Amino acid sequence: MGRKFFVGGNWKCNGTADQVDKIVKILNEGQVPSPDVVEVVVSPPYVFLPVVKSQLRSEFHVAAQNCWVKKGGAFTGEVSAEMLVNLGIPWVILGHSERRSLLGESSEFVGDKVAYALSQGLKVIACVGETLEQRESGSTMDVVSAQTKAIAERIKDWTNVVIAYEPVWAIGTGKVATPAQAQDVHAFLRDWLKTNVSPEVAESTRIIYGGSVTAANSKELAGQTDVDGFLVGGASLKPEFIDIISSAT
Ligand code: G3P
Repeated sequence: MGRKFFVGGNWKCNGTADQVDKIVKILNEGQVPSPDVVEVVVSPPYVFLPVVKSQLRSEFHVAAQNCWVKKGGAFTGEVSAEMLVNLGIPWVILGHSERRSLLGESSEFVGDKVAYALSQGLKVIACVGETLEQRESGSTMDVVSAQTKAIAERIKDWTNVVIAYEPVWAIGTGKVATPAQAQDVHAFLRDWLKTNVSPEVAESTRIIYGGSVTAANSKELAGQTDVDGFLVGGASLKPEFIDIISSAT
């Protein structure tokens, strides 16, 4: 069976209750391909997760943008994987570059979080990606393979993992990777999984692209062999997210 196209919307730290209502309305009214063709997961800030989950059309799912690395307890300000499971939140985004760079999350810490979230029954969108400096110095593949390795060393079952390749220089900059640049890294990651995990995992794991995806560039990116979908930031807050979802077909 082929890899089902996956479109995630990462709302980041944006939105008021009114704006969230409007986005949910757009999502609920939009014409999109069937859930047999595309899996859609939106990720509002924590405080809006329950309301979005309860109001969103049933074929769309929700993700948290982070969770704690181990069982909850005396960790002020954190939200545990168990809490998300308890609320019926199926997905979590881990290792986003904003958390790696602004909050100092190391690849090992991200790997630990991925392993713990999976062990609690969450599905994980695990982000990897290089900075502009790393790309320019020719170390893109070393960076993304080291980030993926830190996850691979800690998990056995990849069924509930989606890898999001998000080049940091393309995030929120309007500077999208060319379809060829995206395909190169996605193919490299698939090959890395084949060699270091298994051919089956390489074949079945979705590798999605994130970084300035819009309705204007999604169709061409989606046409690349190893691009299995998107993790969308800014455009996931706008009506064009519906068109991005539709680029699955
Ligand atoms: O997680 C999605 C993201 O980092 C990409 O953001 O605004 O460039 O689509 P944006």
